[in-house]
Amino acid sequence: MQRILFVCTGNTCRSPMAAGLFAKILQEKGVTGVEITSAGLAAVDGAPASAEAIEAMRRAGVDLTGHRARRLTREMALAADLVLTMTRRQKEAVLALAPEAGEKIFTLTELAGRIAAGTAGGREGDPKTQGAEGMETTEENRQVQGDIPDPFGGDLETYIATARQIERWLLMIADGITGKNQQRLKIAVASDHAGYPLKEEIVRFLAERGFDYHDFGVYSPESVDYTDQAALVARKVAAGEYDRGILVCGTGIGVSIAANKIKGIRAALCHDVFSAQMARKHNDSNILTLGARVIGVGLALAIVENYLATEFEGGRHQRRVEKISQLEGEG
Ligand code: RB5
Repeated sequence: MQRILFVCTGNTCRSPMAAGLFAKILQEKGVTGVEITSAGLAAVDGAPASAEAIEAMRRAGVDLTGHRARRLTREMALAADLVLTMTRRQKEAVLALAPEAGEKIFTLTELAGRIAAGTAGGREGDPKTQGAEGMETTEENRQVQGDIPDPFGGDLETYIATARQIERWLLMIADGITGKNQQRLKIAVASDHAGYPLKEEIVRFLAERGFDYHDFGVYSPESVDYTDQAALVARKVAAGEYDRGILVCGTGIGVSIAANKIKGIRAALCHDVFSAQMARKHNDSNILTLGARVIGVGLALAIVENYLATEFEGGRHQRRVEKISQLEGEG
């Protein structure tokens, strides 16, 4: 579980809007496992969101009617994995409250700028990882440097404009988080001789995208038994050494049947993007299988991309996945 804490001054306008919008963005992206909260440096505990913030969010499809302000505590800042403030002054105030949390406190625009520059996680002061702080030239970059102004006391239009500004940065941050989650995955890839050409394309794709993967072969079109390749990857995934597997044979069927014999494996043969997404969302599939003699490279790579980008939804599907586990070894 990743914990993200949005911080502003009163916790009645900017930070609750940011938290509500970010929850909506992540939900739409199918990202789970992120806890989003907000707090204010000078908040009055229990105060509701401002009427304009509630209305601006209602129009954006976010319900803030139940929000109650919380005064930021040192413990809250320390417990978060990421603290995002609306202004630089707020960042400094959080830093003063919890200096140990220093590396995880950013202004919203600072983090968005770093992600846009491909430097999130980079060390401050390194010219190659300067991100928003180091960018001066374009109009876009000038905006990255700015604080999110306080709409307090403004009219509804002001609040809507502020919400739009916040949302724009949040979309950039969400892309960074999604990408980071994906790239943290360890992926085991293998094929038999029939799957070899497509497996090579998949490996190239994973390398270009910066995924952490291992290619378990085969490394030539010489004939092998697909069962051996399937068992190799399935055992690695079942043992937890890899988060996901990708197996390719001629049809995708043989490797799928074989991999599913290994306890803990939920291999899914997917030849369309929708099935790949659903295999993750509903079945928490941990191995994708593909048939090199069935689909072309372009579709196969789109399937791989979506399979790796999609999170398990949990909830009622968790119970069903557990029931699949209970079936293992039966008979
Ligand atoms: C190999 O000819 C082929 O049978 C194998 O790649 C796969 O399609 C099995 O299901």
